[in-house]
Amino acid sequence: MERIYLDHAATSPVHPHAAEAMIPYLTDFFGNPSSIHHFGRQARAGLDEAREKIAAFIGASYNEIVFTGGGTEADNLAIIGYARANRQKGNHIITASTEHHGVLNACKLLETEGFEVTYLPVDEYGRISLKGLEAELKDNTILVSIMTANNETGILQPIKEIGALLKSHSAVFHTDAVQALGKHLINVEEMHIDMLAASAHKFNGPNGVGFLYVKQGIELSPILFGGEQERKRRAGTENTAGVIGMYRALEISLEHREARNEDYLSFRNLLLEKLFEADVKYVINGDAPYMLPNVLNLSFPGANVEQLLMNLDLEGIAVSSGSACTAGSVEPSHVLLSMHGENERSKSAVRFSFGYGNTSGQVEKTAQVLNKVLKRMKI
Ligand SMILES: Cc1ncc(COP(=O)(O)O)c(C=O)c1O
Repeated sequence: MERIYLDHAATSPVHPHAAEAMIPYLTDFFGNPSSIHHFGRQARAGLDEAREKIAAFIGASYNEIVFTGGGTEADNLAIIGYARANRQKGNHIITASTEHHGVLNACKLLETEGFEVTYLPVDEYGRISLKGLEAELKDNTILVSIMTANNETGILQPIKEIGALLKSHSAVFHTDAVQALGKHLINVEEMHIDMLAASAHKFNGPNGVGFLYVKQGIELSPILFGGEQERKRRAGTENTAGVIGMYRALEISLEHREARNEDYLSFRNLLLEKLFEADVKYVINGDAPYMLPNVLNLSFPGANVEQLLMNLDLEGIAVSSGSACTAGSVEPSHVLLSMHGENERSKSAVRFSFGYGNTSGQVEKTAQVLNKVLKRMKI
């Protein structure tokens, strides 16, 4: 049975060229980049080159990139690190109710430390209101954290407009660009972004490595305690091979961005067209003009999503639900709840996410299998 992987928003395979670029840094150039001898300098040179390139890809400078152990750590460092270091400026933070838990749980922690957090609501498409954000800005607001694209729906937030709005306010702007980077063009300078979190495994780099862009002059308190790596902002020996893999993967993603995005859009349309032809009843969670091309979140009203995912897996199709399944009951995701409230739509959502290696043949097969499974489930 051919297995079809349509869960690239969860994680995506390492691109073979990225894997190839990593190997010498696992075998020959294995030194600790902080060591001053030849072996250390070799590793440092690779790390420096990757830092330079990654910075250039997003319109940043070399010393504005902090390597981390992934997206969650980058979000945590931005939010907790900034709030703790800048407490004297104010204690109010604004974020959105649909953020990733890497942001939401960092904010929850800060609430226990005396920070006040406003969680902006979203409309039925998952977008925040700029006017709503503006209304919540106060003199003591020090940080606004709004994600570039949502991991469950692919919905894009008005990042450029938020950056422009905050130009006239002292709050800094952090964006979680974990899902967007590599698919959506980002230039931190043009978009007035002060901090940006990224994670390699979402753009065909390895798991467990990411980075935080931190605009020059921004003070962060470290959240890890140890050595003085990454200009004292992130203790711990850098994952040199991982960083090299991340840089190559991002380079490849950006090189092929337009062609790949076109493919993903055609996959999305093909899936919807085939489901429509087969008379499958679905609702799109999101708003096509404001969505990443590779994510499609569909609700199949009446479907038991746990059963649906299990049946699809048995037929070789790997997708994910917008819900956390616990002991037989389905908890709708906080994202869908924020968009639609507690209803059938929020409980029957499936996320299809396209990526490296997918073909239109696989998408057609997915539509056929989905139709078969739903009919079998009498949906
Ligand atoms: C939007 C978003 N932010 C943060 C993360 C966390 O990234 P990581 O898995 O690298 O910790 C994810 C991963 O799913 C994500 O989708």
